[in-house]
Amino acid sequence: MVQSSIAGSNSGSISTGPSGRAMAQAMEPDLLDGLQQHLSMERQANIAYTAMALWCAERELRGFVQHLGSNSGSISTGPSGRAMAQAMEPDLPDGLQQHLSMERQANIAYTAMALWCAERELRGFVQHCKQEAADEQQHASLFADYLISRAQSVTLEALPAPRQQWSNVEEILAAVFQMEAEVTTSLQQLYALAERAADVRTTVFLDPIIQGQIAAEHHVAHLLGRVRLGRGDATALLVIDGELSAGNSQPASLAG
Ligand SMILES: [Fe+2]
Repeated sequence: MVQSSIAGSNSGSISTGPSGRAMAQAMEPDLLDGLQQHLSMERQANIAYTAMALWCAERELRGFVQHLGSNSGSISTGPSGRAMAQAMEPDLPDGLQQHLSMERQANIAYTAMALWCAERELRGFVQHCKQEAADEQQHASLFADYLISRAQSVTLEALPAPRQQWSNVEEILAAVFQMEAEVTTSLQQLYALAERAADVRTTVFLDPIIQGQIAAEHHVAHLLGRVRLGRGDATALLVIDGELSAGNSQPASLAG
């Protein structure tokens, strides 16, 4: 019977519909229009749920995000339960978390240095170290914000006690320079990791941070050089301390 129907196209006995396919039974025009309208309604419901899930995600309503996401079938969620536009390679959130801890460690290292300088009446160095400590906390917060934005959870890890004993200011600045260089190395490794994972969001996030880190290295190299010029002389150290108090401690610039 089937064979004879197919063969029937050759005999001109099979009807075809608007698409050109064989049609066993013609549809009433109203029925066809109604089915088409309902298909459009289902598609509209899909994008409506997606819009609602985004609205709830921006307001931290995670349960609604999951509910709406499962209905629309189009939104993934990360470990924190927030909407996730792009999944991260497992090494990348671990590296970002480790770097966040490194920034927090730098925060307490600078605080320890500020204490050492305060005990020795070096007001400008105290002011400088306090500001650096605040900057490191701000850097840690940037990483926390970024991890949250990528639907990751943030962990506040236990930190080792900072070093608090130094022989002189030059020794402090040498330790600072080494610490800043290690932070830059960590950022470079994160950048390479993000590039290998084709995670453009992370490389864009890291770009201005690396630029700021290079400036921090430049600044501490300048301070270390100024202190070394003084060769341990107390008067020279007080001049540099006064420059720091006055906010006049930036390296020379040939660019203007
Ligand atoms: Fe930092």
